[in-house]
Amino acid sequence: SLAPLVDQFQRRITYLRLSVTDRCDLRCSYCMPERMTFLPRKDVLSLEELHKLALGFIDRGITKIRLTGGEPLVRRDMMELVRALGRKIGSGLEELTLTTNGTRLNEFAEDLFAAGVRRINVSLDTLDRAKFAQLARRDSLPQVLEGLAAAKAAGLRVKLNTVALKGINEGEIADLVAWAHAQGFEATLIEVMPLGDVEEDRIDHYLPLIAVQDDLERRWTLAASDHRSGGPARYFDVKETGGRLGLITPLTNNFCEGCNRIRVTATGQLFACLGGSEQVDLRAALRSQDPQAALAEGLDTAMKIKPARHNFAIDSRGQAPALARHMSMTGG
Ligand code: GTP
Ligand code: 5AD
Ligand code: SF4
Repeated sequence: SLAPLVDQFQRRITYLRLSVTDRCDLRCSYCMPERMTFLPRKDVLSLEELHKLALGFIDRGITKIRLTGGEPLVRRDMMELVRALGRKIGSGLEELTLTTNGTRLNEFAEDLFAAGVRRINVSLDTLDRAKFAQLARRDSLPQVLEGLAAAKAAGLRVKLNTVALKGINEGEIADLVAWAHAQGFEATLIEVMPLGDVEEDRIDHYLPLIAVQDDLERRWTLAASDHRSGGPARYFDVKETGGRLGLITPLTNNFCEGCNRIRVTATGQLFACLGGSEQVDLRAALRSQDPQAALAEGLDTAMKIKPARHNFAIDSRGQAPALARHMSMTGG
C-alpha cells in the first residue's frame, strides 16, 4: 500500500473525521447562530466524491473514519455512503462510526448496525426538555431519547457527548453521567471551544473540566483508566456507577501531542487541525486531471502543515478570539 500519513512531529495520522454536510436540524447556541448561513449545495462533495476520497485515505493508512456534520444523518443519501464504506471494514478500515445529535437515530440505528457500525457518539447536553429546547432551539429531546433507545436496541454501543456549560447544564452533569451509565452508555464531557461567531459570548458559559471533575469526585470515586478510544478523551472508571467517563479538555489539559486526526469538510477542504486555519483543497484535487496524484500531493502537504497544537487559549479576558469557522464546518 501507499506511504502512511506521518506529520512533521512524527505523529501517525490514522483517524479521518469526514463531514458529509454542514447542515443541522438543531441550532445549539454554542455551535451555531439561529440564522445560520449554510453552504450552497453545489459546493458540497457528491456521494461518489466522498466515497472516492475516503478510499484514498484508507490507501494511505487511515483505519478509523468518523462521519460528522453538521448532522450527518440529515444528508439524504448518507446511508449509501455508510454502506459503501462498511464494505471496507476488515480490509484497511478498522472502525466506521459517526457523531450525531440523535434526532434521526430512530430511523437509522438498525441500518447503521447492518452496515458495520458498532459504536456511535451522540451529543446530549441536558435531560431537561425545556432546557434542551432553549439550548438547541428546537424541542427535540423526546426524539433524541427515542433515538438513543433505538440505538441500544439495535446493538450499537453509545457514548454521550456533553459540552459542559456554566449556568446551563452545570448543575445537572452528575445526573446526566449517572443516567448515561444506568443506560449502559459511556459519558464524555467537553470544554466549549471558540469556533465561529454565535449570538452569545461563549466565555460566559465556559466551564473548565477541572472544576467539574472536582465536583464529581466529591460524589464518586474516579479511577484513571488506560482505555483509549482513539480520540482526545482521557478516561476514568466511575466506581459507583460501573460506567466509563471521558474528559475532553482542549483548554485546560492539552492533548495535541497524541493527535492522530485530520478532518475534511463537506466541500473537501482538509483541515490539518480543528483549532487552526491550515488547509488543503482536496475538492480541487479530486476534480483535477489526475486525481490520484493530486490527492497524494494534497495529503503530503497536509502532513507538512499540520501544526503542533491548536491555538485555543484562555487569557485574562476570557477565551481567545473565535476562529471564524463554525464547528459545523469541520464536524468537531
Ligand atoms: P472517539 O472515537 O469516541 O474517541 O470520538 P472523538 O472524541 O474522537 O469524536 P467526537 O466526535 O465524539 O468528538 C468529541 C469532541 O471532541 C468534539 O467536541 C470534538 O470537537 C472534540 N475533538 C475531537 N478531536 C479533536 C481534536 O483533535 N482537537 C480538539 N481540540 N477537539 C477535538
Ligand atoms: N465546543 C465544544 N464542543 C462543541 N460541539 C459543537 N460545538 C462545540 C464547541 N464550540 C460538540 C457537539 C458534538 C461534537 C461534535 O462537538 O456537542 O458533541
Ligand atoms: Fe447541530 Fe451538533 Fe452544532 Fe448542535 S452541536 S447545532 S447538533 S452540529
